[in-house]
Amino acid sequence: MISYNAEKNLITLSNGKMSYVVYINPRGQLETLHLGAAWEGQEQDFSARPYVGGPELLDRASGKMYNAQNTYGVHREISSHGLGEKKDAPVLIRRENGSYVTDFRYVSHIVYKGVKPLTSQPHAKAGKDNSETIEILLKETSRELYLTYYLTIYVDKNILLKSMSIQNKTEKAVTLDRLYSMQLDLARSNFDLYHFHGRWAQERDLVKTPLSDGTFEVASNLGRSSHEQNPFMYFASPSATSDHGEVIGLNLIYSGNFIMRANVNRMKELHIVYGMNDEDFAWHLSSGETFEAPQAVISYSLDGVDGMSQAFHQFILDDLMTYKHNHAYKPVLFNSWEGCYFNFNTESVISYIDDAIKIGTELFVLDDGWFGQRNTDRLGLGDWYVNRNKIDLHKVMAHCKAKGIKFGIWFEPEMVNPDSDLYRAHPEYVPGEPEAETLTLHRHQLHLDMSNPHVVDNIYQQMKAFLEEYHVDYIKWDYNRVVMEHFSPYFNAENQGEIYHRMVLGYYDLISRIVRDYPDIMIEGCSSGGGRFDMGTLYYCPQIWTSDESDPAQRIALQYNTSLGYPLSSIGAHVNDHPITPYSTKAKLAFFGTYGYEMNPNKLTESEQAELSEIADIYVRYHQTVVEQGTLYHLVSPSESNDMCMQCVSPDRSTSIVLYMNKMKEHGMSRFVRLKGLAPKTAYKNSFDGQTYSGTYYMQVGLDLTHKAFGEFSAQLIILEEV
Ligand code: DGJ
Repeated sequence: MISYNAEKNLITLSNGKMSYVVYINPRGQLETLHLGAAWEGQEQDFSARPYVGGPELLDRASGKMYNAQNTYGVHREISSHGLGEKKDAPVLIRRENGSYVTDFRYVSHIVYKGVKPLTSQPHAKAGKDNSETIEILLKETSRELYLTYYLTIYVDKNILLKSMSIQNKTEKAVTLDRLYSMQLDLARSNFDLYHFHGRWAQERDLVKTPLSDGTFEVASNLGRSSHEQNPFMYFASPSATSDHGEVIGLNLIYSGNFIMRANVNRMKELHIVYGMNDEDFAWHLSSGETFEAPQAVISYSLDGVDGMSQAFHQFILDDLMTYKHNHAYKPVLFNSWEGCYFNFNTESVISYIDDAIKIGTELFVLDDGWFGQRNTDRLGLGDWYVNRNKIDLHKVMAHCKAKGIKFGIWFEPEMVNPDSDLYRAHPEYVPGEPEAETLTLHRHQLHLDMSNPHVVDNIYQQMKAFLEEYHVDYIKWDYNRVVMEHFSPYFNAENQGEIYHRMVLGYYDLISRIVRDYPDIMIEGCSSGGGRFDMGTLYYCPQIWTSDESDPAQRIALQYNTSLGYPLSSIGAHVNDHPITPYSTKAKLAFFGTYGYEMNPNKLTESEQAELSEIADIYVRYHQTVVEQGTLYHLVSPSESNDMCMQCVSPDRSTSIVLYMNKMKEHGMSRFVRLKGLAPKTAYKNSFDGQTYSGTYYMQVGLDLTHKAFGEFSAQLIILEEV
């Protein structure tokens, strides 16, 4: 998989479908030669040639002038800063003499099976059977500063990982002003960049930007990966379709500030850098210390957008998520929030449970409002003890147990209301300069200083005390504001540029401890809906609440787009009682996610209960094998059409489920949807018109949805089964 040609100084990472080729030039700089179709044993095609047009160099001792020899050009794995090239370098280090110049040169390398874990943040699993890594040690030319560069390739999917760490072996501290996770230089730049843009309740609009001369960036500086942009994005050749053409997907295993900059230079070459956002970042790296950047994940496809998506899905499910029961059946969930908000008591919750069971609920979740004095969103965050005047949680949990269903609870561990016991006792637990006149509130709450280990300990102890007494099956881990004050009273002046990152590490520390102590509890991520939908959170949480907008009129695009980068089983989706669309439409769309409910179940009529139960039954029968373990195909994009269509195929190809939705009414239209991924010779009966056709017929001619008038926002869930 990874080979080194010592004669040509070439490193080739290849898995039979794709190759990545790196050249170590005579000066020890790493050059990028190839990202593309599999290329192995053809190194002779690369014959070193003198570099033309580069800067001439003066050897100061001898006074000799010369051209750098034997380089292929300026496509670098790690650009130097301030030496010979003017590219955006992924590393910036401020040294004791004030210089920013960095130039890392090859020292040695080792190759091993699997992935080296990061020490304090989420990372790809060890993966010894399906991946190989080359670890390349580079040294800064004039200082004892070392950069370790990690490149991993997977055998079973077109995924590459890139990351780096810096080790300070000088005798003095240096300041790391930037350490991105990756650089990718390509000689071609004819790509459209697709990324997500959005806001609360409207996350992940897909935006297409044709690359042109200059720089385009996608970033968050909000302390979380954010509603506004998302770490997932892809570069597609303009001729790429859902199943043809070159597509390069990027993501980052990180939940905080990130930045991706894509520059097309005067030579029309593409230069990408990607990693933790360096805005307001300065890491004080003492002598002997190491700093590691998060891992960047590249999904490379020559089979269009779905090739890129499917590799990401497989990577997230098999190589990233650590939840112990990740591949087990996930129960139908009922969440109390939109049904009653803060307004509940023991009896009303029990009546919710009873009615929720009638629509197939297998896990009841009590959302916000059960703790401290939390009767509105103005108070109580930070006080994680049960409000016994409001609810008898033992009774509620005993009721769930008696009815044979699971129970889950809501936390927002990283936050505090000024009106809380915690803030009154520890005003120093929030970030912000002690002498500042004001602190910024969002939703009436302050961020806790998660960079301070005492804060993390305090919340951990409170959560632990609760979890020891109440044996819940599920936690919804919410996070409802951004970081404004990125100053920690706990740290010295020299560490203040570290606070954004340290707060993310505090989040990881806290959630890791909870996962370690309670590995059976399923944790669902959440951040005012989908403000922290990222690979860092998915490492711990097998699912994430996608958005506070549940109505299909908005959700069609939201779920479709999210699934371009993230697997359906991670996309928290609930049926609510928003009046625009019928329950059956809402349920069918939620089925193409994790499936759950969020309404007042006491108000459901018998026919509504029947409508929902029907989908819950399909969920129990098919969801795990077809949706969670199956392969997803994006057939019709709602951004480009009145319709939306997605299809899942079970791993053994015996069953497939198609979701077809339309926005406006459609009368008497010819609608043939050409399916994908079926076994060509297998006969499948479809539940739409009851007919049986071969896989070839469905894939070449199509599933015929003609002859039926579909009303506004209607949905068809069509099951195809092998006969
Ligand atoms: C924001 C979440 O997105 C909602 O689902 C709900 O849990 C509220 N927070 C509770 O405050």
